[in-house]
Amino acid sequence: MNKIENISFNQNISNEENIISLLKNKRKSLPTQYLYDDLGSKLFEKICDTEEYYLTRTEKQILELNASEIVNEVLPSEIFEFGSGSSKKTKTLIAKVLKKNKKLTYFSFDISVKALKMSYHELDKISENLDVQLIKGDFNNDIKRIKKGKKNRLYLFLGSTLGNFNNKIAINFLKNIANLMNKEDSFLLGVDKVKDEKIINSAYNDRKGITKKFNKNILNVINKKYKLNFKEKNFLHNAKFNSEKSQIEMYLESTVDHSIKLPNNENLNIEKGEKILTEISRKFSENTLSDLFSKANLEIKKNYSDDKKYFSLYLLKSMKYP
Ligand SMILES: C[S@@+](CC[C@H](N)C(=O)[O-])C[C@H]1O[C@@H](n2cnc3c(N)ncnc32)[C@H](O)[C@@H]1O
Repeated sequence: MNKIENISFNQNISNEENIISLLKNKRKSLPTQYLYDDLGSKLFEKICDTEEYYLTRTEKQILELNASEIVNEVLPSEIFEFGSGSSKKTKTLIAKVLKKNKKLTYFSFDISVKALKMSYHELDKISENLDVQLIKGDFNNDIKRIKKGKKNRLYLFLGSTLGNFNNKIAINFLKNIANLMNKEDSFLLGVDKVKDEKIINSAYNDRKGITKKFNKNILNVINKKYKLNFKEKNFLHNAKFNSEKSQIEMYLESTVDHSIKLPNNENLNIEKGEKILTEISRKFSENTLSDLFSKANLEIKKNYSDDKKYFSLYLLKSMKYP
């Protein structure tokens, strides 16, 4: 396997302070990135295969139907994917590019080493004309350390991962991409759209309980990383659509009064019914998206969707270059 380039900036001390303040806050939360350790990344793959999680199969279908048009439009020599996960869906695009171009460099960028390894194994055997580069980093903190493309780079951000960001972080992230783009570069963004609440709620509450395992696993991750003593059995999985904010909010809800020890040795009391937010997953309307794009200096070139308008792919250009 190719070497993983690690561009993360070591922030262990400030991370520890951050965890303490997030847990002491009246509205408790944990950073979503901690859902993705080795086990979390494997569980996420399983979630993608559940009957209820329409997101992955819908986005895959849109990609398959439109890959030729997208590739003809942008003819990339490089593809750079943020939060690539296993890169399974990206294979369709890569195969189409390789039919047109002799060579392609694919950069898989993820915070999870397991995801990078899965991506490598998914793509390694496709073609000797494909060069797979693995980069470990945080798309919010390390984006400024990413080198610009050499020629016609296509940036990808799929799986509606943008939905995990609040508005301020989303604008900032999209702005950073617009700045990173050269004139000839493009950006393909996959986002989940507003739809019937029942469909959304069941996607985050699958019958097999995989999302529940994925959510609870965050406790093992932070226990290990910050020497905490959270117990899975003290929490239940709670994921509900908040229609006012148009987002799924995924919590761990305490089933008992209990206390945990923080990294600074302070005791933190957690009451029965108290909730810790582990992820938001926003469902976007056309209006919210056009507002985000204009604030981030991005312009829509093309928009692809499925028949039911459940999910959309936006092909974007940076407005830095009129
Ligand atoms: C919702 S999954 C999407 C995976 C894949 N793109 C897909 O469409 O199936 C989010 C991905 O982003 C990665 N991720 C989460 N937080 C991250 C961060 N702060 N920086 C970089 N990658 C991150 C996770 O490891 C995971 O692979």
